[in-house]
Amino acid sequence: MRTYLKILVGLIVVGAIALLAFILVPVQRTPAQAQLPDDWQPEEGQGEYAMRIADCAACHTAPDGEQFTGGRAIESPLGVIYSSNITPDDATGIGGWSLDDFRAALYDGVRPDGTHLYPAMPYENYRKLSEEDVRALYHYFTEEVEPVRNETPEAELPFPFDQRWTLRGWKWLALDDPGFAADADDPVLARGEYLVEGPGHCSACHTPRNTIMAEAAVDASDEAFLSGGEIAGWTAPALRGPDSAIAGWSQDDLVSIFSTGRNAHAAVNGEMQLVIRDSTQFMSDEDLTAMSAFLVGLNEGTGQARAESETTETETEALIASADPDMPLGTRLYIDNCNACHFANGRGADEVFPELDGNSLVTAESPTGLISMILEGSELPSTPKRPYSLRMPGFADRLTDEEVAELASFVRQGWSNDAGPVSAASVAELRGKAQAKME
Ligand code: HEC
Ligand code: HEC
Ligand code: HEC
Repeated sequence: MRTYLKILVGLIVVGAIALLAFILVPVQRTPAQAQLPDDWQPEEGQGEYAMRIADCAACHTAPDGEQFTGGRAIESPLGVIYSSNITPDDATGIGGWSLDDFRAALYDGVRPDGTHLYPAMPYENYRKLSEEDVRALYHYFTEEVEPVRNETPEAELPFPFDQRWTLRGWKWLALDDPGFAADADDPVLARGEYLVEGPGHCSACHTPRNTIMAEAAVDASDEAFLSGGEIAGWTAPALRGPDSAIAGWSQDDLVSIFSTGRNAHAAVNGEMQLVIRDSTQFMSDEDLTAMSAFLVGLNEGTGQARAESETTETETEALIASADPDMPLGTRLYIDNCNACHFANGRGADEVFPELDGNSLVTAESPTGLISMILEGSELPSTPKRPYSLRMPGFADRLTDEEVAELASFVRQGWSNDAGPVSAASVAELRGKAQAKME
């Protein structure tokens, strides 16, 4: 009996020490992945360019706030996390941070005092940043950006998720080795892979999350990487595999969507529109080509079936052309409201009106994007290569919830599309949310 007790007490003591060590022993910071000379300086514009390809502005600028002063609310399934002020202000920003402090935030998600950052800051992906990009970013945020005082709110998460030390355990399970290694020898493909896996953090949205809410894969060699995810109720479609939204797209199609927000097949909306507005439209032609070539490579062998269906007249097209007075309500609503721009064959017009046939937003598992589009319409971002804005009108005032549901169901099942129907209740819910947002 006494020995059992001794063992038990012993185990408790060891456990308590382990827990304290877990909480208190400083985190090992990931070292620089390459040695650059101490007096290394970025070229003119290199720091800003690194900020663009890594899209730091997306999260670190609040909708009405000054650039990089943080405070943007980022919704997570557990609660709201606010981005930090990353201007070099001493009191509220990263003023006084050393290069090593800065690198540790990007690679390991820790502050100089050892506090853990939530993975809403995409260090799962930034762990792959090259030392040159880290140095360029450090130069940009400490010497090129003006310090601005702005206190940002603390994250609003329930217990135990508000205990930042628990993130240490999460990181231990979730984080992959730091550093980047390309799959291909070809320097163009390797650059494309780097942009996608590292700074572009494409997988933060386009890769599914696993049971601990980490990205299921952070490296293209794993099939789960870019196999489709979800962000703020929108589907971020698969960019590879059988459901790939970009199957059959050429390199030029991709360059076009990243630089202008549209191409012959689609126009982008939601979060991806912001990615284009703040990041990809600023990429050099070389980088756009590299990223697109890499993505085309991921899709080799997919997309044949679609090319075939593009030449035959579909049943849907025939039904629209028949002008049958008994045609279903959804079809009639399409002819009255959508046909003028998106056409009977659902193919729209190249680079102007996107295709609805085979469109990933239309056929997404969750119809949120499609319903929002019909209710609120949308405006393509104006980019230097396409300095005008094309509008899709909103139909909230003209169509009832039932009508929007019928119409959306028609579009989801028309042509070669084969997605589930939409209920009037889901339309009502989104209409309510849209109205609340306006007020
Ligand atoms: C997807 C959104 C997102 C992107 C993109 C992003 N960040 Fe963050 N970042 C955050 C959030 C959210 C926090 C705060 C996390 C927390 O409170 O735990 C944060 C925290 C930080 C911090 C820690 C500051 C502190 O003391 O709180 C630094 C430094 C930082 N980010 C730098 C950057 C840089 C540089 C980039 C671009 C290379 C970048 N971030 C891109 C969301 C983002
Ligand atoms: C903040 C989340 C987010 C990030 C980061 C992001 N995407 Fe997206 N992306 C989306 C969403 C959501 C859509 C769907 C938009 C739509 O249907 O109009 C999308 C759509 C796309 C499409 C168009 C697919 C189609 O059929 O219209 C491509 C291509 C794409 N993303 C590539 C990328 C690449 C490459 C990166 C990294 C450089 C990236 N995305 C980063 C959220 C994101
Ligand atoms: C006046 C022309 C016009 C009419 C009418 C119109 N659209 Fe559009 N639609 C556009 C334009 C332009 C875009 C691209 C704008 C954007 O995505 O920001 C677009 C985009 C879309 C998209 C998103 C495609 C993508 O790849 O992201 C969907 C879905 C859509 N329209 C459905 C409809 C439906 C359904 C109707 C009928 C209720 C309709 N549209 C009526 C012009 C129109």
